[in-house]
Amino acid sequence: MSVERTFSMVKPDAVAAGQAGAILAMMEKAGFKILALRMTRLTEAQAQAFYAVHRERPFFSGLVKFMTEGPIIVMALERDGAIAGLREVMGSTNPANAAEGTVRKRFAANIERNCIHGSDAPETAEAELRFFFNTADLL
Ligand code: RTP
Ligand code: MG
Repeated sequence: MSVERTFSMVKPDAVAAGQAGAILAMMEKAGFKILALRMTRLTEAQAQAFYAVHRERPFFSGLVKFMTEGPIIVMALERDGAIAGLREVMGSTNPANAAEGTVRKRFAANIERNCIHGSDAPETAEAELRFFFNTADLL
């Protein structure tokens, strides 16, 4: 494996529930280095753009509403095999199917309100890092 960067986000449900610290601790325990981190809140246009790949899906408007309901924490993470590794730490999209010890198993309420986002491929990782961070943030 090689050292990779990936993008992650603590979603509004987890920030509001005071779970962000525990989620960040899980990242660090899994060996991720936090390269950059910021709290922000998505506008409707930003949420639509970020999840544009899902715009034709029936859950899209609910997803945009959820993602704009409160602050989020965005971060750039680095590790060997970071992209697949983060998806493992997150667990399945639907927490009912998530493995024991994953973020979604521990904290997520349901398939939509599922606490955390992680990039799913090298191309999306780069695009999503660029969406939130400047070149200088990632040096
Ligand atoms: P994410 O992009 O947020 O990391 O999640 P993911 O890859 O595990 O799942 P994805 O298929 O990309 O879906 C993006 C987010 O949309 C919401 N969703 N709701 N109601 C539904 O059936 C449904 N399906 C997906 C979730 O918030 C999911 O994480
Ligand atoms: Mg996804």
